[in-house]
Amino acid sequence: DRTYRIAVIPGDGIGTEVMPEGVRALQAAADVYGFELDLVELDWASAGHWQAHGTMMPEDWAERLETVDAIFFGAVGWPDVVPDHVSLWGSILQFRRVFDQYVNLRPVKLLQGVRSPLAGREPGEVDFYVVRENTEGEYSSVGGRMFEGTDRETVIQETIMTRTGIDRVLRYAFDLAERRPAKKVTSATKSNGIAITMPYWDERVAAMSESYPDIDVDQFHIDILAANFVLHPDWFDVVVASNLFGDILSDLGPACVGTIGIAPSANINPEGTHPSLFEPVHGSAPDIAGKGIANPIGQIWSAALMLDHLGEAEAAAAVEDAFESVVAAGDTTVVTPDLGGTGTTAGLGSAIVDAINHPAVERGRG
Ligand code: NAD
Ligand code: IPM
Ligand code: MN
Repeated sequence: DRTYRIAVIPGDGIGTEVMPEGVRALQAAADVYGFELDLVELDWASAGHWQAHGTMMPEDWAERLETVDAIFFGAVGWPDVVPDHVSLWGSILQFRRVFDQYVNLRPVKLLQGVRSPLAGREPGEVDFYVVRENTEGEYSSVGGRMFEGTDRETVIQETIMTRTGIDRVLRYAFDLAERRPAKKVTSATKSNGIAITMPYWDERVAAMSESYPDIDVDQFHIDILAANFVLHPDWFDVVVASNLFGDILSDLGPACVGTIGIAPSANINPEGTHPSLFEPVHGSAPDIAGKGIANPIGQIWSAALMLDHLGEAEAAAAVEDAFESVVAAGDTTVVTPDLGGTGTTAGLGSAIVDAINHPAVERGRG
């Protein structure tokens, strides 16, 4: 049965502006490729929900979402109304943990028609994945505040890494690399300064690499790795990192290929025990919210990742072809300001929907 039940959660700020474009692209793909969407729109994970209920989501959110085929998410965070650590720990970080979405897969690709801020880089030269550990590591609620209000005030926050937690995300990264021509895994570490957890991470990488003799394994400390993203983005194929390092690299990577506005992500529970979640890498962007100029491609590309996850590979490829062809056409009245244009969220979304509806022409294959 090719009917997919999908929870649609726009969230805050530009999440509510890019989500309609993501949904239009999905619907167009469904119409062209002959499957059905059963969309369940929810106002959860928003400042509005917080103001109305004093929580980011209803208490039974997990039961209510457990049976959907996937979650399509926008962005959450509106610090004028709710402190960020409250809104984020009350929503997206809950999804990732409770639904055990331990892989955060974030493609980084220089598209035709996009000018990289890195001089001289051409499309094809930069095309890699950041595989971010998504449920443990530096993101932890273990710790506390002591001697509050005194000059001995002290805060402690633990990093938690488990063998299971590290090995399962490494296995995903190595398996992904096996399916890529370059067959290369780069591990982000900091075992010189973070002297307990990071040497352990390195040990697990070394152990895992023994099961993958044909994979070329490389590692860098996170500081020089960040520098190498800028200097040598062509070196990377699959970059695997802890939760925090992966977070930083997955904003830096997209910045190196032009804009964070196009970057997608898949928060995956690979066993399929729980639903996976698909969202742009970016946040609610309060600085441009309400202006109608947010780039919808991060949301639309996330829709493509979701279709691929649902088994609609052909539709997923068509959605990717559609936004790639629109960006490659380079019409500055169509693309949004982050891509150097004067276009709008809805205008760019419409151009992409047109390209989905007329694939042969738009892809230059007709
Ligand atoms: P942000 O990603 O929202 O914005 C960073 C910069 O990138 C801003 O200048 C913004 O205008 C620009 N930008 C982001 N998306 C864009 C798009 N689609 N098109 C054009 N420009 C775009 O990061 P921030 O400012 O650090 O965070 C704002 C809020 O979002 C905070 O509350 C933060 O906690 C939250 N946040 C949520 C998520 C998420 O939902 N997964 C991710 C990151 C940040
Ligand atoms: C992301 C975001 C989140 C993260 C924040 C908003 C908690 O930056 O999805 O990359 O750090 O994971
Ligand atoms: Mn981030």
